[in-house]
Amino acid sequence: MSSVPESTNSRMPLLESHSKGVMVALNTLLESRTGQQLAANREWRIETALKPLLRDLKLATLDDLVEAVRRSPEIADQAVDALLNQESSFFRDAAVIELVAEAVATLRAEQGQRRVRIWSAGCSVGQEPLSLAMLFAEQEALGETMPPDIVATDVSEAALTRARAGRYTHFEIQRGLPIRRMMRWFDQQAEDWVAKPELVRRIAFRRINLVADPLPVGRFDVILCRNVLLYLPPDLRRRVLDRFATVIRPGGLLVLGAGETVIGQTEAFRPSPRYRGLYEAVPAGV
Ligand SMILES: C[S@@+](CC[C@H](N)C(=O)[O-])C[C@H]1O[C@@H](n2cnc3c(N)ncnc32)[C@H](O)[C@@H]1O
Repeated sequence: MSSVPESTNSRMPLLESHSKGVMVALNTLLESRTGQQLAANREWRIETALKPLLRDLKLATLDDLVEAVRRSPEIADQAVDALLNQESSFFRDAAVIELVAEAVATLRAEQGQRRVRIWSAGCSVGQEPLSLAMLFAEQEALGETMPPDIVATDVSEAALTRARAGRYTHFEIQRGLPIRRMMRWFDQQAEDWVAKPELVRRIAFRRINLVADPLPVGRFDVILCRNVLLYLPPDLRRRVLDRFATVIRPGGLLVLGAGETVIGQTEAFRPSPRYRGLYEAVPAGV
């Protein structure tokens, strides 16, 4: 295995040419872990995504990385993490998050003693479930009772470790989070902002690969799976939607990303007549 000379470690290594098998090996790794496939015409993006990992591991080429991945499950995890898009932000598509909070408030009022259950699937480093937790906590302060259960899952253990820590850079905290909520729900620690334990405690984080792993037990009232399905090929998108149908209550709500839809993919969900832009689970036999 060749390595980058010490003197150049602080700089990005220039990727030397790699063998054809490298892209096949990386594609096989990512697909087996997540269902995602690397687009053949986007090799430059793969190289860009993996450059920081090569630098950290002091490796010179993608061939070296593939060799390291074969030897070390930890390096394989790191390579998969680097290839995943984990872009997220607090109150992403704020109108949608507010609509979900409104739907949940209505459900809480209708359900009486039954606890409402919400699943944030593909939660990345936690901004989506934390945004919901803030809104629900604020609803409770207005007299609502019974906090909803929030389950938040991702295929990336590294993303979940960050989510459980609730620690965000100044850049991340500024994206979408109003100052009032930042001051109410986060404490500044050195350069970072850390979510208050009482907020993080509201969320149960778990590692789940939506394509292959057993899904959480029990039925959900709302499933959010935003900006995840678009990275999957059509057959796996359909499979994930059909799997969601097995763990959502009849009439329960499915929330997808702005560019995603169930239309033409599954009969198990249809546009919600009540909440524009959201989908509802079609009861069996309809
Ligand atoms: C672009 S982020 C979206 C985060 C958040 N849902 C949002 O909209 O802001 C996509 C997330 O999906 C996760 N992901 C990708 N494939 C997955 C799979 N097969 N199972 C579970 N999570 C997956 C990635 O690790 C990443 O954190």
